[in-house]
Amino acid sequence: MPENKLSIRIDGELVSTVEGQTILQAARAAGKKIPTLCYLEGLSAAGACRLCVVEVSGTDRPLPACTTPVREGMAVITVSDKLTHYRRIAIDLLMVERNHICAVCVSNGHCELQAMATALGITNTRYWYNFPKLPVDLTHRLFVLDHNRCILCTRCVRTCREVENACVWEVSSRSIHSRISSDLNQPWGESANCTSCGKCVQACPTGALSEKGWAVEEMVKRNDNITRLGVRRGVRS
Ligand code: FES
Repeated sequence: MPENKLSIRIDGELVSTVEGQTILQAARAAGKKIPTLCYLEGLSAAGACRLCVVEVSGTDRPLPACTTPVREGMAVITVSDKLTHYRRIAIDLLMVERNHICAVCVSNGHCELQAMATALGITNTRYWYNFPKLPVDLTHRLFVLDHNRCILCTRCVRTCREVENACVWEVSSRSIHSRISSDLNQPWGESANCTSCGKCVQACPTGALSEKGWAVEEMVKRNDNITRLGVRRGVRS
C-alpha cells in the first residue's frame, strides 16, 4: 500500500513526512534534534520521561514528540524558553527522586541523564532530594541492578520483551514505589527467563543496570545493536 505523504512545519521549516510517523521520527528524518531519554530507536515508544516535549499548533499543552503522530499541516516548535523550562523540571524531578551520586557511579561521564542535565545547564536542583533507601541487586553472576540510579524509562523492559523476547523485566508497584523487577520480583540471579544476553544493560541510559567488574566511570554502553535488531524485527522503524 502506498504511503500517505504529509507536510508539516518544524521550527518554521516545511518537512515532508508520511502518515503513521511520530513528530520525533519526522524531526529526526529532517535532521532536527529533539532531546530524548526513554526513547530508543528500534523499541516501541513509552512516553515516560517527557524530555521530548514540543509545542504543537492547536493545543496549548506541550506534547511528547515520541508518541504524538504527525498530521497534515501541523506546526511544531522544538526549541523555546517554555520547552527548556519543562525539560529542566523533568530532569530536576528525576534527579531528586532517587540517589544519583555521579561521583561514585560506573556510568559517570557516559550517562544519558547526566549528559541531558549538562546540556540543559542544570548544576543544582530546585527540589528537595528524596534520598530513598533502595536496594542493589547483586545476585546475577554478570550484572548489577542498582535501583538508586533507575529512572524508570523502561528501556530495559522493552528491550527484553521486544528484542530478546525473554520478558524478564516489568515495572512493579505504583508512583514513587515503582520499581523495575525481574520475574515477578525474584532476585535477578534466580530469574528462570533471563538469558544473560546483557541487552537490558546496554539499553539502560544510566548506571542502574551495569556489568560487574567495572569501576567508577568505566562502564560505557552500546545500544546500536538493539536499535538494529528492533528495526529489523519491525518493532519500530
Ligand atoms: S523521549 Fe519522549 S517521553 Fe521520553
